[in-house]
Amino acid sequence: MFTNKPPKSLKETAKVYFFSSTAKTIPDIFGNQKNYIVECVKAGKSDVKFVFNGIDKLFFVIYSPSKNTDSEYILEDIRILGSQLCKLANSHRTNAIILEKPTSLFNSSQTLAFLEGLELTNYEFFRHLKKGGPSNSLENVFVNDKIIKEESLTELNKTLYAVKITKDIVNEPVIFFNATDLGNFAKKQGKANGFSVHVMNKKEIEKNKMGGLLGVNKGSIDEPTFTVMQYKPKNAKNKKPLVFVGKGVVYDTGGNNLKINGVMGTMKCDMGGGAAVIGALTAISSNRLPIYAVGIVPATDNRIGLNALVQDDIITISDGTTVEIQNTDAEGRLILADALVYAKKYNPALVIDLATLTGAASNVTGPYGIALMANKTKYKTIMVESGKEVYERCAEFVMWREYNELIKSDVADIKNIGGPTGGMITAAKFLEHFVSYDWIHLDIAGPAFISGAASHYHHKGASGVGVRLLYNFAKKFIGKK
Ligand code: BES
Ligand code: ZN
Ligand code: ZN
Repeated sequence: MFTNKPPKSLKETAKVYFFSSTAKTIPDIFGNQKNYIVECVKAGKSDVKFVFNGIDKLFFVIYSPSKNTDSEYILEDIRILGSQLCKLANSHRTNAIILEKPTSLFNSSQTLAFLEGLELTNYEFFRHLKKGGPSNSLENVFVNDKIIKEESLTELNKTLYAVKITKDIVNEPVIFFNATDLGNFAKKQGKANGFSVHVMNKKEIEKNKMGGLLGVNKGSIDEPTFTVMQYKPKNAKNKKPLVFVGKGVVYDTGGNNLKINGVMGTMKCDMGGGAAVIGALTAISSNRLPIYAVGIVPATDNRIGLNALVQDDIITISDGTTVEIQNTDAEGRLILADALVYAKKYNPALVIDLATLTGAASNVTGPYGIALMANKTKYKTIMVESGKEVYERCAEFVMWREYNELIKSDVADIKNIGGPTGGMITAAKFLEHFVSYDWIHLDIAGPAFISGAASHYHHKGASGVGVRLLYNFAKKFIGKK
């Protein structure tokens, strides 16, 4: 969407001018709009305004940086301004906009944040509408600014494309997107962007004795898949891989502990972690980051069915650990256990898992951020920093040893729920049981899917959370940022 090559046709194109609260002079070419700009500037008001002067469509972006504000808020305010421009441009049926020297107002990373907010806002999920196309008119954004390099725009385009496809597959209902579809989708992305993909079918999953994934799949008529993606360029800066693991529950009915009272709705988002892992591999490979990265996504739906798991069942994870099922709705941790065991064979530098794992995490973070839990790893601070920069913030929760007591079982090695205390922590403790390397767990149950009010670039439905975070983290991991 973004380029700094000028448009071929000026039809339906509008120019965008930028003004700051520190602007000394406003050019006379803006006629009686000049007063409006001067007033906003004086009042320290950030605003986006549309003007049609009889010949040209013009947009003014007026920005007044708030003082004494943390840097993450400054960048986020700029994303929001980009979002406002997108909405206004679409409301005036503008097809293309030319941003006239945004660096007169923003530095380079702020300009990219402005573009990011703009593009994220322009997302629409229209596949199942009769008209089958977008409602938005905006298609092209030309950045008329020598300071912004074409490479930065290309990188942003590719990363935001990865966010878009992630949203698309999370928004897709299970009737069109089951575990096999998820594996095929990963293959398609691998082929297009140059990472290898192996999708294990049920037979191979059985051979690997993945009792967690097979257990959850017992209630389903669709087969499970276990997708392994690998991006290993010759110029990779790391020998040991960075491994991403994502929960791929393509639908979570709760199983025999059926979700009732309306809480089942939105559970098509329960593969949000898996989708983000595919998105992150896509962003990394399409941008040719010199990093050895692996993505693992165990996938199945969690349904009621004649043979579905019941309370009191005992299943065996691929490392031999036995698990007493005390709630069939705590299924994510069962399939992730097999994936975390599998990750070990890569001798990873770090494993990061992403999962829409618990209502407990969602109740704490809401859509505003991610619940982070980890073992002792030096990478935790880098993750928190990455989260601030992309505004997918990570709030850390404790992992005190006493929580281990809550998942002890009388009849098996562990049980799959821990009771009312700290649900996101006992879930993380369950996962930690299968971890033997540096590890960060990101519970994205809160931000993965927006069902409440939309705000700015956070529209209703899938958010694509995790893709920008992991991409930013990956760059820091190899010292590229
Ligand atoms: N997929 C859900 C968690 C979830 C809740 C995701 C809300 C997104 C939004 C998960 O599988 C689940 O049902 N967890 C249970 C665990 C409980 C039974 C211990 C929960 O959090 O209620
Ligand atoms: Zn569940
Ligand atoms: Zn779930």
